[in-house]
Amino acid sequence: MILEVAIALITLHFAVPIAYYATVIKWMKRPWPDVANADLPSVSIIIPTFNEADVIGKRIINIAGQGYPLDKMNVILVDSSSDGTADEAERQARASGLRLSILREEERRGKAEALNAGLKLATGDVVVIADADAFWGANALPNAMSWFSNPKIGAVSCVKTPLSGNSTELSYRNLYNVLRVGESKKFATPIFHGELAAFRRDLLMKLGGFPTDIGADDSHTATRIAAMGFRSIIPENVTCAELVPTAGFSKWKVRRAQHLIQNFIKAIRLEYPSDFKPIIYTEFYLHVINPWILAAAVVLLLMNHGVQAMALLAAGLAAAAWGPYRSWMVQQLYLLVASVRNLRSKELMWDKQKKPAAPKSDL
Ligand code: GDD
Ligand code: MN
Repeated sequence: MILEVAIALITLHFAVPIAYYATVIKWMKRPWPDVANADLPSVSIIIPTFNEADVIGKRIINIAGQGYPLDKMNVILVDSSSDGTADEAERQARASGLRLSILREEERRGKAEALNAGLKLATGDVVVIADADAFWGANALPNAMSWFSNPKIGAVSCVKTPLSGNSTELSYRNLYNVLRVGESKKFATPIFHGELAAFRRDLLMKLGGFPTDIGADDSHTATRIAAMGFRSIIPENVTCAELVPTAGFSKWKVRRAQHLIQNFIKAIRLEYPSDFKPIIYTEFYLHVINPWILAAAVVLLLMNHGVQAMALLAAGLAAAAWGPYRSWMVQQLYLLVASVRNLRSKELMWDKQKKPAAPKSDL
C-alpha cells in the first residue's frame, strides 16, 4: 500500500509540470498583443546598489548604449554602498551623457526600500528596475518600451540568460524562459526579473510602490498588476544577462527560491482575471506544494524499503545523469530548503555574493 501511494505521488509530481509545459507550448503559438508605432514613453530607470563598484561603470555604458533617446530617460541610483559605487556611476554617466540622480542612503535598508525611495523621484511614464550586476541585450530598452503603446500591457520584463556559471543553471533558465514567454502570450507571467523590470508608473502608484514585507519585489508587483487586469509580459525581444555567483551558488538559489515562495503565498489570496487563473494557481502549486509531494514520496519509499522501492529510488538517482532531470531535482531541493528557511528569515537583506568580472565588450 505504501509503495502504491509513493508511486501515485511521484506520478503526480511529474505529471503536473509536464502537462503544464505542454499547455504552455500551445500558448506559445498565440499571437502577441498589438503594438502601435506610437511615441516612445519617457522612462525613469532605478538602479539599487549595494557595493557594485566593480560593475556599475559597465552597467551605465550598457544603459546609455541602448539607443533610447537620452532626453526621454533619467537614471536614479539608490545607493547604500561603501565601495565608491556612486562616484563611479557619476563619472561614467557624465562621460556617457546620461542624466543621473543619486540618492545616497544613510544606512542599508534592503532592495525594496531602496526602490521605493527611488520611485519618489521618478517622473517617467514608465519606471524600469535595473539591477546593477546584469546587462541588457541589444535594443532591450526600446523594445520593452514599445510594448507600452498597447494600453492593456502594464509591465514588461526580460528573457534572462546566465552570463557565466554551470550547465544546471543554463538548463534551468532554458526551461524557465519557455514558461515565462508562453504565460505572457496567454495573459501574464507571475515571475519577473529585477535585471529589467518595467512598470507603468501610474500602476505602481496605485499599488503604493514595491512590497517591503517580501523579497520578490519584481515578481510580486508583476503579479499584482495582472490582478488589476493588465498584462505583465516577458517577450522574446527583451533580453538580459546576469552574472552568476562564483561562490555561494546554492545559497543564492535558495534565497531566490525563498523570495518566489513568498510571492506565491502572498499572491494566492488575490482575485485574478480568468485568463490568469490557470497560470497563477499552477505556479503556486509548482513552487509551494509540488516539491513536498516528491519529498513525501521519497520518505514513503524509504519506509517501505522493499526491493521495488529501493529499485525505484536507485533509478531516480541514476536518472540524474540526464541534465534537465538533474536540474529539476536540484531545484526541488532548493525549494524545499527555501520553504523551511522562510520560517526563520525572509532574507529581505542579503549578503552580496562574489560574482565573476563583467565581460569586456558590450553585449
Ligand atoms: N540600495 C540597495 N540597498 N541596493 C541593494 C540592496 C540594499 O540593501 N541589496 C541589494 N541591492 C541591489 C544590488 O546591488 C543589485 O543591484 C540589486 O539590488 C539586486 O541584488 P542582487 O544581490 O544582485 O540580487 P539577486 O540578483 O540575487 O536577486 C535578484 O533577483 C531575485 C529574483 O530573480 C533581485 O532582484 C531579487 O529582488 C529577486 O528576488
Ligand atoms: Mn543580481
